[in-house]
Amino acid sequence: MTNQITIFLCSLFYFAATEATPIRSLNYVKLDLYHSSDSMYYINGLKLGTPAQSIQNVILDTGSSDFVIANVIYDSSKSRTFINTFEQYPEKYGSTDYFTINKVSDSLVLNSLKVTNFTMGYANRTDLDSFSGILGIGYHTREALGKETSYENLPVKLKSSGLTQRVMFSINGQPQTPSVLFGGIYPRLFQQPMTKVPFNKEVGNFSTASVNTILALTVNSIKLKNQVIASQKLIYEIDSGANGFATTIPILNNILTTLGDNYVESHDSYYYPISELQGVYVKVDIQGYEVRFPIIDIVGDRKQFKGVQYGSLNLAPVQIGVNSYIGTLPNCILKYYYTVYDLEENFLLISKYSGARDSDICAVTSSYNPKVIATKVAPHVKDSYSVLYQEDSETTLSAQNESTGNTKEPDPATNGPTTPTGSNHSGYNSKFHSGRCKTRLAQ
Ligand SMILES: *[C@@H]1O[C@H](CO)[C@@H](O)[C@H](O)[C@H]1NC(C)=O
Ligand SMILES: *[C@@H]1O[C@H](CO)[C@@H](O)[C@H](O)[C@H]1NC(C)=O
Ligand SMILES: *[C@@H]1O[C@H](CO)[C@@H](O)[C@H](O)[C@H]1NC(C)=O
Ligand SMILES: *[C@@H]1O[C@H](CO)[C@@H](O)[C@H](O)[C@H]1NC(C)=O
Ligand SMILES: *[C@@H]1O[C@H](CO)[C@@H](O)[C@H](O)[C@H]1NC(C)=O
Repeated sequence: MTNQITIFLCSLFYFAATEATPIRSLNYVKLDLYHSSDSMYYINGLKLGTPAQSIQNVILDTGSSDFVIANVIYDSSKSRTFINTFEQYPEKYGSTDYFTINKVSDSLVLNSLKVTNFTMGYANRTDLDSFSGILGIGYHTREALGKETSYENLPVKLKSSGLTQRVMFSINGQPQTPSVLFGGIYPRLFQQPMTKVPFNKEVGNFSTASVNTILALTVNSIKLKNQVIASQKLIYEIDSGANGFATTIPILNNILTTLGDNYVESHDSYYYPISELQGVYVKVDIQGYEVRFPIIDIVGDRKQFKGVQYGSLNLAPVQIGVNSYIGTLPNCILKYYYTVYDLEENFLLISKYSGARDSDICAVTSSYNPKVIATKVAPHVKDSYSVLYQEDSETTLSAQNESTGNTKEPDPATNGPTTPTGSNHSGYNSKFHSGRCKTRLAQ
């Protein structure tokens, strides 16, 4: 595991985030976000082409690495800087089928800061899983647009263009004023110290990836209602583009067992009384640091039965070693925790919000000032995921009472977020795009 001392240093300069237009010398790029009612983070202030066209309905996605847009939001024929490489790649998000994207490039404007010749995917479609665009900001080693010829995706390109000093970003996911900050942190936004957790490499059937490909963390165990529902280690990403929880089938069954029999089945989904979901937490142990989220936050569909409000949960199965090598934690975690993603030294910093406003910004350069951001390493940082997860070794809860159907296995063949396989072992090129987690358990 990479676990050297942090040499990520933060300059001492503070910049009041006033209405003033940022200038290049600030060394950070801030994009305001909008948190939708279905818990997705949409990006404000993006423009493409020359002359620049405003583009809308684009989500921020830490779970993918390419910028892909549907051609309905952008007319490339009106841009004199548009370049089409005529290379084509298959793509798939959440509930979409496979579709073809063209590798193109154009000028991208982020809040008046311009990046020229920015590589992206252009799809001849009306939408991508209900969005018009997906801005993937994960590791460039996971790009879908060309395995062999890796290109500079946004976090990398911002640094090479001189707009940031480091390949890193942080997310303020608080629903009232969300934003993503490339190359900087908000020093007042979080409770000190932040906990530092390394990003874990993907573990395949026969080997472990040689480089980091996903922003994934070791999860050592998971509890629901203080009941252990997962006791085996696995890596999960906190996916800003997923409003649901994707985990293994034994864990999904443990969730259903723990929630009990008081559900209504409708259109092959289970609906639980909202009143019973209230106050129920999922507690995720990330190498000794507990991250918790209320299960009510992953309620998707709501329905009334006999005057009572019910909701179904956004849950999806993954089969480790078969269609994925990782699980996905829901983006609602970003509402409660401030997160800093360092893609140069491969670690996450995480802490609860302090309640203060994001009124100061600190650019992250090559040095770090512990007075600005104190960090401590996660308690069990040595206990990391290194052996492929096995379903039959997972904790299995049995219902206390005979149940009708609530332990029935979901059918991954029809429901799971599937990933392209085809390569021999592994999964280092497996793309488990969540885009949006629309699949529900046992549909
Ligand atoms: C744009 O970037 C690509 C690689 O990403 C490079 O091959 C090409 O030469 C660049 N074009 C211009 C006009 O800078
Ligand atoms: C886009 O798709 C439509 C119909 O699916 C087709 O008629 C049109 O020619 C396509 N445009 C391009 C540029 O491929
Ligand atoms: C990889 O491991 C998984 C889980 O143990 C198993 O289901 C799958 O068949 C394995 N794949 C290969 C190619 O061995
Ligand atoms: C089991 O059934 C009893 C009686 O029907 C009930 O009181 C109890 O809450 C049930 N337990 C669970 C875990 O569902
Ligand atoms: C799979 O492995 C075999 C032998 O190990 C190799 O010949 C073949 O090229 C590999 N296929 C892919 C898609 O990597």
